[in-house]
Amino acid sequence: MNSAIIVGIGAALPSKCVKNSELPRELNTSDEWIFQRTGIKQRYLATEMETTASLATEAAKNALLHAQISAQEVDLIIVATATGDYIFPATATLVQRDLKITQGAAFDVGAVCSGFIFALDVADSFIKSGKSQCALVIGAETFSRILDWSDRSTCVLFGDGAGAVVLKSWADQNYGIRSCKIYSDGKFADHLMTSGGVSTNREVGFVKMQGREVFRYAVEKFQESLEELLKDNSLKIEDIDLLVPHQANSRIINKLIEISGIDEKKVLITVEKHANTSAASIPLALNEVKDDIFLMKNVVLLSMGAGFTWGSALINFDYRGNK
Ligand code: UT7
Repeated sequence: MNSAIIVGIGAALPSKCVKNSELPRELNTSDEWIFQRTGIKQRYLATEMETTASLATEAAKNALLHAQISAQEVDLIIVATATGDYIFPATATLVQRDLKITQGAAFDVGAVCSGFIFALDVADSFIKSGKSQCALVIGAETFSRILDWSDRSTCVLFGDGAGAVVLKSWADQNYGIRSCKIYSDGKFADHLMTSGGVSTNREVGFVKMQGREVFRYAVEKFQESLEELLKDNSLKIEDIDLLVPHQANSRIINKLIEISGIDEKKVLITVEKHANTSAASIPLALNEVKDDIFLMKNVVLLSMGAGFTWGSALINFDYRGNK
């Protein structure tokens, strides 16, 4: 059985960056409150011309360029998103069209903030089973379109963007995705959801969140899945080279650092720059370290989001086998 290695990373951000101090005065919020409670300093917001598919396509192009792989090699495109361009077709097919790819399959995965790890798990399975040789996994969102811009408790937290990775089939199982696990528990569905939907009231709805509860479970699920990943792979916390958690709130990440005992220098925090970009947050963070990550053997990804859904991945990025 082959393994799936990551050979390229790319990202795309909307052209408009909004700092905390530039948010509408009517929100009655402040840079101080937002930064102290969340670690967020700014977010990128899609302009009218920018959509989830356009950001996803740009991120995919950048990842293919980074991997030095032609789009024509790609036989699987998975877009993790909760804010697709249309109800149908899938955003992934729009990316496929815009990359001029006519082979293979393209579809979306919906697991909200955990979407990227869910999509990675699906692509990993396709590659391991021999159904795919080269896959694009993209996390892309325009959450700004489903925010209630009069609700300061949610609208200041999210941003738009996209991140993508290129996966290839590789003969040596010691490299690439070593383990990937996804979980969900629907009894928490009402803790973080939209206020409407196609089949309920024919509306899109806005983000509604029980912030404190989500915070508590995020810490719990991060820690639980990290412990399980370490146990399953006979690793100690010191063996991790880099931990890339979903970027929702730096306080959640700091709590994880405290509980797990991981060296804080090994934990990537990018929420300051991008805010919470849901499924795009992990690949956007990976893009920030793409010059160094391909020397790392034990990179851990952790996610948690609406549903609740959560997941973990252990990846050996050093497929070139550097000493
Ligand atoms: O991506 C999916 C995962 N999502 C998350 O992980 C988010 C998890 N939750 C959180 O990050 C935090 O719960 C929040 C950042 C959403 C909120 O932080 P908190 O420390 O739990 O604050 P709170 O909701 O308990 O609100 C505290 C106070 C309230 O005022 P009172 O009732 O104490 O007078 C809020 O009205 O802060 C007020 N507040 C604000 N003040 C200024 C809420 N939002 C704002 C705001 N600006 N934007």
